[in-house]
Amino acid sequence: MQTQFVEKETLTQDFLPLNGTDHVELYVGNAKQSAHFYKTAFGFNSVAYAGPETGLRDRASYVLQQGKIRLVLTTPLKSEGPIMEHIKKHGDGVKILALWVDDAYKSYEETIKRGAKSYQVPQTLTDEFGEIRTAGIYTYGETVHLFIERKNYTGAFMPGYVAIEGGYQPESTGLLYIDHCVGNVGWNRMNEAVKWYEDVMGFRNILSFDDKQINTEYSALMSKVMSNKNGYVKFPINEPAEGKKKSQIEEYLEFYEGEGVQHIAVATHDIISTVRAMKARGVEFLSPPPLAYYETLLERVGKIDEDIAPLQELGILVDYDEEGYLLQIFTKPVQDRPTLFFEIIQRKGAQSFGAGNFKALFESLEREQELRGNL
Ligand code: FE2
Repeated sequence: MQTQFVEKETLTQDFLPLNGTDHVELYVGNAKQSAHFYKTAFGFNSVAYAGPETGLRDRASYVLQQGKIRLVLTTPLKSEGPIMEHIKKHGDGVKILALWVDDAYKSYEETIKRGAKSYQVPQTLTDEFGEIRTAGIYTYGETVHLFIERKNYTGAFMPGYVAIEGGYQPESTGLLYIDHCVGNVGWNRMNEAVKWYEDVMGFRNILSFDDKQINTEYSALMSKVMSNKNGYVKFPINEPAEGKKKSQIEEYLEFYEGEGVQHIAVATHDIISTVRAMKARGVEFLSPPPLAYYETLLERVGKIDEDIAPLQELGILVDYDEEGYLLQIFTKPVQDRPTLFFEIIQRKGAQSFGAGNFKALFESLEREQELRGNL
């Protein structure tokens, strides 16, 4: 009896415990100017920097933070090398979704033994503030998961980076933490990607939407939400589906020239003031749904704490599930290629992802796609 019990315990043990998202690193054409955009428009502050001044010869990286959200913006300084190759092919985009772990070496070992492709063998980085251990594996496309272990580190970010304090540090817009990061995969690649997260990372599929649930007159897609065991890290995955015209996922795959991160959802406790501040600072959001959306909102979602008027004014969408409701809005792409964008989300109980808004959202996206000549 005792043995059986122990075996069951072992089977359900999380072989890849995650504490959350450590940071998201974007490769960009001009990190200095991107950093200015995310600071001024989104309300991030500078926390660390690495570049020629700190002894790096080939790149510069700016580390920004707001709440628990850490963005790293990296640009190459020369025409050759993997960072420039990445930018040449994909444009500005997410290279690394870094996960905060207690044991980077073990995370690497456990995922490699389950079939992960290595990006970086485990290494220990040290400076006067302690040590950080990292290792990395590839996920979809050229996107990477880095495991970051920082329990013995008190510096600003990592060895090799200098802390940035003072200077231009604009006011926060109220962004708190990363709620989820969504990946787009190619035709018929969904099941493979889902199985990869299950087998290699120990994630499970907590929600699925098929092309009958997510479609407009013109296009369709499928989506599956993968979550790690404790629910701290959620990666929804999208795959295009056949429609009359080209879907937004196909547009992404065409312009990113491959699979990659579609959007980063960031949470706030007050979406109305966050979105108002971001708009005032020049962030562009998708156009609001037609008036009828707000006229029938309360019938659809039930009672909500917010007034309808500011939601309608700002184009904020509302959806609900058995546990509560959520408010959300999507930015336009944050670079010229129609690829990466951000979602701002405020959860009021709901643990879902706004499936009830997919139709309104996609119709808004299709209006943009049409303007780009990509529908
Ligand atoms: Fe989302």
